Amino acid sequence: MNEQPTYFSRNRPISLEHHWLPFTPNRDFRADPRLIARAEGMYYYTPDDRPVLDMSGALWCSHLGHGRKEIGQAIAEQFPVLDYAPSFGFGHTISFELADRLSAILPDGLGHILFTNSGSESCDTAIKVAYAYHHARGQSGRKKIIGRQKGYHGVGFGGLSAGGITANRTAFGSWLPADHLRHTHLPEKNAFTRGLPEHGVELAEELAELIAFHDASTVAAVVVEPVIGAGGVYLPPKGYLKRLREICDQAGVLLILDEVITGFGRLGSPFASQEFDVTPDILTMAKGLTAATVPMGAVAVADSVHDEIMARGPEGGVELLHGYTYSAHPLACAASIACLDVYERENLLTRASGPVGDALGDALFSLRDLPEVVDIRHYGFIGAVEFRPGEKPGKRGQAIFKACWKEGLMVRALGDIIAVSPPLVIEQDQVGEFAEKFRRAVETTLA
Ligand SMILES: Cc1ncc(COP(=O)(O)O)c(C=O)c1O
Repeated sequence: MNEQPTYFSRNRPISLEHHWLPFTPNRDFRADPRLIARAEGMYYYTPDDRPVLDMSGALWCSHLGHGRKEIGQAIAEQFPVLDYAPSFGFGHTISFELADRLSAILPDGLGHILFTNSGSESCDTAIKVAYAYHHARGQSGRKKIIGRQKGYHGVGFGGLSAGGITANRTAFGSWLPADHLRHTHLPEKNAFTRGLPEHGVELAEELAELIAFHDASTVAAVVVEPVIGAGGVYLPPKGYLKRLREICDQAGVLLILDEVITGFGRLGSPFASQEFDVTPDILTMAKGLTAATVPMGAVAVADSVHDEIMARGPEGGVELLHGYTYSAHPLACAASIACLDVYERENLLTRASGPVGDALGDALFSLRDLPEVVDIRHYGFIGAVEFRPGEKPGKRGQAIFKACWKEGLMVRALGDIIAVSPPLVIEQDQVGEFAEKFRRAVETTLA
C-alpha cells in the first residue's frame, strides 16, 4: 500500500486501512475519520486535542467517565498478584469476591453468576442456561425464543435470533427458532412522554397469543431489554414488563431481562428489574459491570433455575457445559470490584433518579422546538430525540451525528433517532453544554 499515512498513534504513522471498524460505514469513515486520541473525565480528545463531550457514555458503557485512577490502580495492582488463571475446574479468589459483591446489589433470588466477556456472550449464555434448565426438567422440546421487534441482544447467533432489528439479521439469518413480540413504540399516543409511557400495556397480551400459537411446550424463554436501547430508546409502557412476567409464569417460560444497558444505575436503581419491580429468571449484564475499562459480561441466574440444573447434573460431572477461556478474568474482576466501590462511595447507582437526571430530561425536552423533531424520550440517564426521516431513512440522523462531532459532542445515531446515555458522573453544567451544542448541530444541519 503506497498511500501516505497522515495519522499517528504514539508518534508512529498509521494507515486507516487495516482495522475494519464494527458497525461503521468504513468507506465513509476513512474519507472523513472521527479519530480519538485520549480521554479524561467526561471528555474525549481528538488527535489535535479538541475536547468532545461524551454524551453517549461511549457505547452506553463508560459509567465513570474516562481515566478513573482508582480503576487503573486496581487493575495494575491485580496484575502482579494474579494475571490470569483458568476457571474450568479451578477457581481464583477474586472472582468469588466479585460474585459476592454483585449478588448483594442484584435483585433478590438471582444468586448465581456466570461470567462472560461481553454483552453478546451474556445473551447467548442466558439462552443456553434456559435451554439447560428445560433439558434438566425433561422438557428439551422447549427451544423457541421470543424476542421483541427493535430489541438488540448482541451479535452472537443466539442474541441475533432473539434480536428484532431486521437489518442486523438480513445477511446472517436467524439461527435459533424465534418469534418476536411487537415493539411498543406508539408515537400517536405516547410522543413526548417524560418517563414511562401511559399507553401500550395491552401489547403484552400478544405474548400469551404467541406462546399459545407455538404451544408452550416448545417455548424456552422470552428475551427483552427492559428499555430498548440500540433499537431506538423505547421505554416500556407502564405495567408492560409485569404483565410479561405473569404470562411467562403461567406458561412455564423463563423471562430473560437483558440489562446490558440498563444495569448499573442507568435508570436510577442498580438494575431496571428493581426500578420496574420485575424480577427475571435470568439477567444479563456487561458495560457498567466494569464501566468499560476491561471487557467483561455476566449472567445472573435465579436460584430456582440454578438449583434445577445442579440437581439433575451427572454425579461428579459437569452440570453446565459452557464457559469461556476468559470467564472471570482476574484483571476484569479487579476492575469490576473497583467500579462497584466507586459506585457505592459516590452513590452513583441511584444518581440518575436525582437532580442531574431531571436536568437531562429538562435539557432534552428543551429541544422540542427544533425543526423536524417528532418525539423526545427520557428516563434517568437515558434519552432520545427522534427526527422525522428525510429523503432517505437514517440520512438525517447521520448528518446530525456528524455535526455533533464537529461541535465537540459524542452522541449515538440510531437511524433518525439521536440517543444519549451519559456517564453516571455527568454534572449539571455538562448537561447544559450538551443542549447548547446539540441545538447548534441541529440548526446547522437543518438550516
Ligand atoms: C441490550 C444489549 N444487549 C447486548 C449487547 C451486546 O453487547 P456487546 O456489544 O458487549 O457484545 C448490547 C450492546 O450494545 C446491548 O445494548
